[in-house]
Amino acid sequence: MDYFLINGGKKLFGSVAVDSAKNALLPILAGCLLSEGIVTIKNVTYYEDINSMLEILQLLGIKIQKHENVLVLDCRYIDKYIIPLELTNKLRASVFCLGPLLGRLGKARLAYPGGCAIGSRPIDLHISGLAKLGVHVIDRHGYITAYKGNMKAGKVCLPFPSVGATENLIMASVLNLGRTQIIGGAKEPEVVDLCNFLNALGAKIYGAGSDHIIIDGVPSLAGGEYTVMPDRIIAGTYLMLPLLCGGEVEVINANGEHISPLVELLKNNSCNIRVKSDRIIVTAKRRAKCFGKIETLPYPHFPTDLQQPLSCVACVAKGTTIITENLFESRFKHVPELVKMGAKINICDSSIIIDGVKELFGAEVVAPDLRGGAALVMAGLVANGYTTVKNVNLIDRGYFALEQKLSMLGADIKRLKE
Ligand code: EPZ
Repeated sequence: MDYFLINGGKKLFGSVAVDSAKNALLPILAGCLLSEGIVTIKNVTYYEDINSMLEILQLLGIKIQKHENVLVLDCRYIDKYIIPLELTNKLRASVFCLGPLLGRLGKARLAYPGGCAIGSRPIDLHISGLAKLGVHVIDRHGYITAYKGNMKAGKVCLPFPSVGATENLIMASVLNLGRTQIIGGAKEPEVVDLCNFLNALGAKIYGAGSDHIIIDGVPSLAGGEYTVMPDRIIAGTYLMLPLLCGGEVEVINANGEHISPLVELLKNNSCNIRVKSDRIIVTAKRRAKCFGKIETLPYPHFPTDLQQPLSCVACVAKGTTIITENLFESRFKHVPELVKMGAKINICDSSIIIDGVKELFGAEVVAPDLRGGAALVMAGLVANGYTTVKNVNLIDRGYFALEQKLSMLGADIKRLKE
């Protein structure tokens, strides 16, 4: 197992280009199951989760050619509809295959999905939404089996804007003739990217990014070409670094609109932020100020995926920050690890109260999940002395070559093998 060895305390300077959005590319890859042609996807980054999703697509019959950051997928011959536990268990996004398999083959059988241990992560909204459209779903022995049967177009009101449930319902409806409406769905940019991709293949989806999405079913989807959006969570992670460590970082392909709550926080803190059309530059010379009260909420509010990285910056900020995590019930597992490094944090129900300290100290810490792992790497960058971060495989799920990119900014970080 790999681990990172970080010698902290370095200011960071330089440019970093943001890779492909993991949480857009994952549903887009699942959406390829709906196409009866050849699909070319550009701006592909091979995070571990992407490699896991490609394994699933190959099992189902898609032929895949990898050309650096371009994927060519031959989706003409899909004949399998069962995905076993050893593949679904690797990632939450395996559940995104449910909708497209239903649309393409009229049936699907998936073992329950895996994913970061940040909560129970049920899929009841996926199942109840599909059932509302007439899909026959059997949830038994850890497997979901679904049959299109007499699925009909209709209206689904989601009680919570679940990203995955919205994406699954859209993909289940693309080839289902008639008009399906999703009310109260997720508005995340990644959902919009998925809809733009599906429309590029001939789907008829309107209102993506709003809480009223309309899908007019079409008989089939052709092949096509699409370029995936950049990852706004990775962009946000890098943009916090100057405020944490000092220095200046230019994040190329960062889209300020997609992370506007973070941009506003940085604008009101002790750093200078310049938002341009295709990049954002943050310069910081002084210690961060506390962030006051922060709530994670569905888009367009502060994203839950940046909660853990922000909590790291708050650890060494002047004053007290209170972060409330409203989306996942167990997304504070990185807190005991930060406390090992000298952070002063108390967990109180769904909130953490962070009293900023002057400095953190290197320690041996273990990444509990993807974004919590990123927060621990950030803590190592600012801590005095050496930090080892274990479970780097969890970080590799959503950050590509993180140590190389941080080294290019001046960090002293190495990937070693245990
Ligand atoms: C997606 O997960 C992302 N993952 C997550 O990113 C992200 O944190 C999350 O959306 C919220 O933005 C991918 O896109 C692969 P949800 P998803 O359905 O679809 C509850 C990362 O770090 N819920 O919006 O699983 C659920 O338990 C990952 O990249 C139900 O109760 O998120 C959670 O509390 C982590 N029933 C809340 O809704 C359901 O059927 C949000 O879940 C579905 C969800």
